[in-house]
Amino acid sequence: MSTPYVLVLYYSRNGSVSEMARQIARGIEQAGLEARLRTVPAISTECEAVAPSIPDEGALYASLDDLKNCSALALGSPTRFGNMAAPLKYFIDGTSNLWLTGALVGKPAGVFTSTASLHGGQETTLMSMLLPLLHHGMLITGLPYSEQALLDTQGGGTPYGASHHAGPDGKRMLDQHEIALCRALGLRLAKTAILLENGRGQEA
Ligand SMILES: Cc1cc2nc3c(=O)[nH]c(=O)nc-3n(C[C@H](O)[C@H](O)[C@H](O)COP(=O)(O)O)c2cc1C
Repeated sequence: MSTPYVLVLYYSRNGSVSEMARQIARGIEQAGLEARLRTVPAISTECEAVAPSIPDEGALYASLDDLKNCSALALGSPTRFGNMAAPLKYFIDGTSNLWLTGALVGKPAGVFTSTASLHGGQETTLMSMLLPLLHHGMLITGLPYSEQALLDTQGGGTPYGASHHAGPDGKRMLDQHEIALCRALGLRLAKTAILLENGRGQEA
């Protein structure tokens, strides 16, 4: 069996969601688990266009096995018209076999997003990503208000998951509260995964 890992699966075009993924990975590693960062290819308007199997830069493309074998999942997307981006939805729509076999049932999952405007749909996008995860039977871990940053933030951060306000030009960096909440989400996911794995070990 491979070493347990938390899959950080995301789509990012301009880098904000990638940076969130890196911060979530730091939280996961703080709990002592491996963070496996994976992305999905862009979707082309040309129906026959094929992306290279290895991207030019950044995280590798996710496989269904990455998802099937993870101990927990952090799923991230930029907000697109208040919803997750099509490339991520396209990947999720290809997970029917995992649903049929119940491969993700009982695994912890959390979500994250970035927007251009502060009230431009962070919560709705997070909810849009939670819906398919609930269909898969995953255990949703949001962010509790015991995280002080959730009360203090002037930018992103919601109880439904981590979020970031990138500004109209997309250049606003993650601030201290947004970073703290990304790390808290990663830590919480990893700790929950460890607790569940230990519980299963005792049952066996
Ligand atoms: C097609 C499209 C739709 C978008 N819709 C929204 C939106 O509904 N609300 C919003 O605040 N930002 C919206 N944005 C802006 C992105 O969510 C924002 O720039 C985000 O930070 C990009 O993340 P990335 O840098 O990881 O690609 C949209 C961007 C695009 C290209």
